Amino acid sequence: MKFLWFRCDIILPSAALAVGVLAVALAGFFIKRELEGTENTEQHCTMAHEAPENVERFKSEGHSAFVLGHTGELGKVLVDELNKLKIFKKVVLVGRREIPLDVGPEFEQKVVDFENIDDYKDVFKDLDTGFSCLGTTRGKSGVQGFIRVDHDYVLMSAEVAKAQGCKHFSLVSSQGADKNSSFLYPRTKGQVEEALKVMHFDRLSIFRPGVLMVDREESRPMEAAFRALLKPVSYFFPTAISVPVRIVALALINNAVAPPSGSTFELYDNKAIHQISGISKGCGVKRSQSAPERTRTD
Ligand SMILES: NC(=O)c1ccc[n+]([C@@H]2O[C@H](COP(=O)([O-])OP(=O)(O)OC[C@H]3O[C@@H](n4cnc5c(N)ncnc54)[C@H](OP(=O)(O)O)[C@@H]3O)[C@@H](O)[C@H]2O)c1
Repeated sequence: MKFLWFRCDIILPSAALAVGVLAVALAGFFIKRELEGTENTEQHCTMAHEAPENVERFKSEGHSAFVLGHTGELGKVLVDELNKLKIFKKVVLVGRREIPLDVGPEFEQKVVDFENIDDYKDVFKDLDTGFSCLGTTRGKSGVQGFIRVDHDYVLMSAEVAKAQGCKHFSLVSSQGADKNSSFLYPRTKGQVEEALKVMHFDRLSIFRPGVLMVDREESRPMEAAFRALLKPVSYFFPTAISVPVRIVALALINNAVAPPSGSTFELYDNKAIHQISGISKGCGVKRSQSAPERTRTD
């Protein structure tokens, strides 16, 4: 077949070959990501396995918690799971607005102005455990707004909380967080992680999930399109690059109730989050060298 300027007999097979090669390379990447474990696979799976008994012990110790970002997609699911498990005697939900919630009497919503979080010290009083699911996007808030929320608000709240008695702070960061990245999102996430490390909580747990799988209430067309494309990938390779919000919420909880391991700093990547949640695939897979760290920083 010949046309004026364009040879279908050459171009079409070449394009098909290129697409085929790309598909094989992507499949290889996802298969590798799916099959590789972490250096601490056993530790994560043990944490998941022991969660039911840890929950009972933890409950009897009478802990109290706060959640930042409880109105967000992950925050709402975390609150829902906390409400089912009843592991805290008190849970303060700290946000810029109140939302209707059907939860137990141990939950309390507190509306704060994050710009002046120092004025709300009492909100954090004697809450020994903190979860941060706070965050925005550059698209929604602009560059400065994104940094203000994902970095400054998290740190300002963490500082106040620590002074008021927070011993264990858990941050939902992001896969790829890197303080030296030239991209805004991973750099900001990496920088907030670093700043939290030097605050010396008795225990700091950082979670780096991949793409959060959730039917988002708020319209974010680009994110929705990306998530739709990712659905088949997350179906066949569930732990490779994405994670449903419920799995992150359960990982946060199973980690919070686990007895301190002696490490002051714990870092969990997407695979580890799946493993710790106890409801996902990911345990019993072989270990890889590219493991998330769970290191002592003291
Ligand atoms: N989306 C992903 O695929 C993905 C992947 C990896 C990591 N993460 C991270 O995971 C965390 C939770 O994500 P998500 O999807 O659950 O977030 P989300 O639905 O956007 O919720 C974010 C929370 O932060 C609050 N917030 C945002 N801007 C604020 C502001 N200016 N002042 C006070 N509060 C503000 C929101 O309050 P309002 O409800 O009042 O807005 C909400 O409670 C975020 O840190 C995100 O960066 C997300």
